[in-house]
Amino acid sequence: MTDFLSRGSYPQTRLRRLRRAPWIRDLVTEHRLTASDLIWPLFVLDGQGRSEPVTSLPGVSRLSIDRLLEEVSKAVDMGIRLIALFPVTPPDLKTPDGDEALNGNNLICRATQAIRQRFGDKIGVMCDVALDPYTSHGQDGLVRDGYVVNDETVAVLCQQAVVQAQAGADMIAPSDMMDGRIGAIRQQLDAHGFQQVLIMSYAAKYASAYYGPFRDAVGSKSSLGSGDKKTYQMQPSASDEAMHEVALDLAEGADIVMVKPGMPYLDIVSRVKREFHVPTAVYQVSGEYAMLAAAAQNGWLDLRACVLESLLAFKRAGADMILTYYALQAAQWLSE
Ligand code: PBG
Repeated sequence: MTDFLSRGSYPQTRLRRLRRAPWIRDLVTEHRLTASDLIWPLFVLDGQGRSEPVTSLPGVSRLSIDRLLEEVSKAVDMGIRLIALFPVTPPDLKTPDGDEALNGNNLICRATQAIRQRFGDKIGVMCDVALDPYTSHGQDGLVRDGYVVNDETVAVLCQQAVVQAQAGADMIAPSDMMDGRIGAIRQQLDAHGFQQVLIMSYAAKYASAYYGPFRDAVGSKSSLGSGDKKTYQMQPSASDEAMHEVALDLAEGADIVMVKPGMPYLDIVSRVKREFHVPTAVYQVSGEYAMLAAAAQNGWLDLRACVLESLLAFKRAGADMILTYYALQAAQWLSE
């Protein structure tokens, strides 16, 4: 640790000199936020010309593919480099084993193809690997005797990843927290000729209460009922265990590791970056978005200032990239 006091102290040292005017503050700025740091999660809906607001995510709508393309076009124009897609699966297509996840013509595959076709390499498309948007019970994997089974789930996740890669996904993001899935998915992608498809692993994903609005958005909350995901997502009290998860995912071939949620877990973001020195992502999750949006709606917080501050804080903690529902809005603010 640097010995700050050996450099001199007051009155020789006055740190406020470095803060006196915008020009000097800009010169000594340590961390900057740009549109290219942001990843925009979007919810895809069946049908045509549809845009359905998510009540618990004010300002976020679920979009049919035609509407989705309009939003992606804005993201491209604003310099956002990657979008993350989540499906709103029609209830009649949800089954205990989530078979719709393996349908090469499902919502996610059609959306991915449409974006690929229209935008090429102007923006990346990331697809989530997990079964919760497709299962009637809302769990991320297959349930046998009341338990989300690991290895059988991993086999299905591998097929899901391949189906998404076949549709044109640039990046696969396993969010399920099964053991060993990164290595298995990497192997299957490679076996199908998808060596160039990246994997962003939800490596340190906590069993968090901040995911509520997301589950409203994809309609998995009612399916999940009183169930929880504590047998596979991490306990909020864990810190060393997060390093262990990250180490395993890197050893299995993850290109980018993610910490989720974001703001309550900045210490984890910081540790991951300092201990592994690899591309690190953080997810400002739906509950974090909702808190800021609700306070701003009540006139209690300045939305723009608080959102940009929260995103900058992720960069300071060590994140290279940030998933946030505010991505387009923040990119617009940054360009003003
Ligand atoms: C599902 C998944 C979740 C999120 C991303 N992928 C929810 C969950 O694990 O229940 C949460 C995102 C958010 O809250 O914004 N595998």
